[in-house]
Order: sequence, then C-alpha cells, then structure tokens
Amino acid sequence: MIDTYNAVHGKMTDNFQIVPHTEETAHTQQDIHTQETIHTKRIAREWDYRAFRNPYHYVDATKRNWDKTEFYAKGLQLVEQIVDPVLNRLKIDPTGKRVLEIGCGIGRLFEGLSQRFAEVYGIDVSSQMLEYGKANCPVQAVWIHGDGLSLAGIDPETVDYVISYEVMQHIPSKTIIEAYIRESYRVLKQGGGMQLHMRRGSDSLRQAAVRQLPKPLRQLTASIANKINAIEFMGDIDTWLGITLKPSVAMELASSVGFERIEILPDSIHRRNSGYWLVCVKPS
Ligand SMILES: C[S@@+](CC[C@H](N)C(=O)[O-])C[C@H]1O[C@@H](n2cnc3c(N)ncnc32)[C@H](O)[C@@H]1O
Repeated sequence: MIDTYNAVHGKMTDNFQIVPHTEETAHTQQDIHTQETIHTKRIAREWDYRAFRNPYHYVDATKRNWDKTEFYAKGLQLVEQIVDPVLNRLKIDPTGKRVLEIGCGIGRLFEGLSQRFAEVYGIDVSSQMLEYGKANCPVQAVWIHGDGLSLAGIDPETVDYVISYEVMQHIPSKTIIEAYIRESYRVLKQGGGMQLHMRRGSDSLRQAAVRQLPKPLRQLTASIANKINAIEFMGDIDTWLGITLKPSVAMELASSVGFERIEILPDSIHRRNSGYWLVCVKPS
C-alpha cells in the first residue's frame, strides 16, 4: 500500500513516528481549549499515519487488502443502506441540495451521495486522507481540511444535509463531539437534516475489556493485544476506540443547540448495540 501511496503522491518524507503522550487533565476553560487542541493535533497525526499506511483498511477495517474498485463500490451500497432510510424518514428530497460529510476520509460515500445530492462537501482532520481521496475518488467533490473540532471555512446556513459515518466512534472527547453538533447546527440551512453515527458500546468483548482499564494500563494492554493480533489498530488506542456516548446524552446535546425532531435510529451495520444514529432537523 505504501508503494501505491508513493506512486500517487511521491515519496513520503515526513517522520510519522507516533509520540507517546501522558494523561492530560483540564482544570480551567483555557486548559479545556488547550486540551482539545492537543487532542485534535494528535488525532490528525494518527489518522495521517493510518492513511499513509493503508487508507482503505483504516477507513474500513473489515478487510486488509481492498481493491480500489471494490472499496468504492461498497460506498455506493452503504449510502443505500444508511442514508436512504433516514432521508425517507425525514421526508427530505436531496435533489439539487448540498450535503456535507464530517470525517469523509477518502470519499468512500461520495459517489452514492453525488447520485442523490447536487453538491458533495467533505471535511476531514487528516490531510493525508484528503490527498488520497482527491487522487482516487471516482467523483467530484469539495474537499476541506478541518481542524478536527469545527466546521471552519463553511459559512452559516449554507448546507442542506450533514452526515457523519464511522467518525464520532473514534473521537476520544465528548467536547469534540459536542462541538461538531453545534457546528452542524450553524452550517445547516433552516429545515436541514443531520444524521450522525455514534458509538454506544464496543465492537467486541475484547475492546470492551480494554476500554475499562485506566489509561496507562489501557495503552499497555492495547499495545500487547495489538502485537499478538488480538486487537488491531494503529497509533494511540484512544483515537481508535473513541468514547462511548449514551443515546440520551447525544439527544440532550442536539436539543441544547436547538435541533428538533430528534430521534435515535438503530445502526444496522455494526455489532448489535455498539452504534446508533442521532437524527434531527434544524427548525424552519
Ligand atoms: C473510519 S474513517 C471513515 C471515513 C468515512 N466517513 C467513510 O465512512 O468512508 C474515519 C475518518 O474520520 C476522520 N476523523 C477522525 N477524527 C476526526 C475529527 N476529530 N474530525 C474530523 N475527521 C476526523 C479520520 O481522519 C478518517 O478519515
């Protein structure tokens, strides 16, 4: 995969070593801001590294050696499975409208989205994912390099629909998830809809066991589990496992920024009870 990457982008010269970090504790508003910046820088670095190593696999870990055509074809199928039912439920006709995907990766969902919506925008914290996507995604889109926390660069009330799939589940901070919900409200037009894929539990019992451990032990156990192929991830375990968020908390966050018609819908793709959809509408 590195050869494929280098063939497209030239040789990577950056030093992508993952730097070990210690627990950060926020005490003041200023600290909270600093802490989120630390989080997002680390998140960006680690997703860049994952994109550099094997973008297809780290977007969709169900397979290691994806063929490009097969990978993007799966995106078409996914949009049918995850987006169409929600559009129908919200009675939103996407024709002529603009969709924004938060955490778009290499644009796996873009072809399916562009068959429904007139304009596809994607934002991602990883410049490596975006570069790979721009060079390989079969359809045109607007690719935006985000700061991992906001939708800066997108004007208020300019987007008709927001979607995010398999992204919030990796985010290690409730503050960042909350910021994305607030930002989605800001960029959505009145009457616009949102569907965010969230994590309520672990993908496996092993993951659940690791998640429970205190941080230093969690990192140690995860790295041992990784070495013996019991859990597969790359970089910091926390930017892979993310945090879990109860549906009631997600609904509360959406309601607190002004969303209406808030619903929790089942995630039909992942392990039972590991994920769900937060679905809502910005009032007209
Ligand atoms: C598993 S991939 C999913 C990509 C895409 N949504 C899809 O389904 O094909 C997760 C993506 O989320 C991005 N990501 C992780 N944390 C993020 C954050 N805080 N803000 C924006 N993007 C983030 C990663 O860079 C990566 O591209």
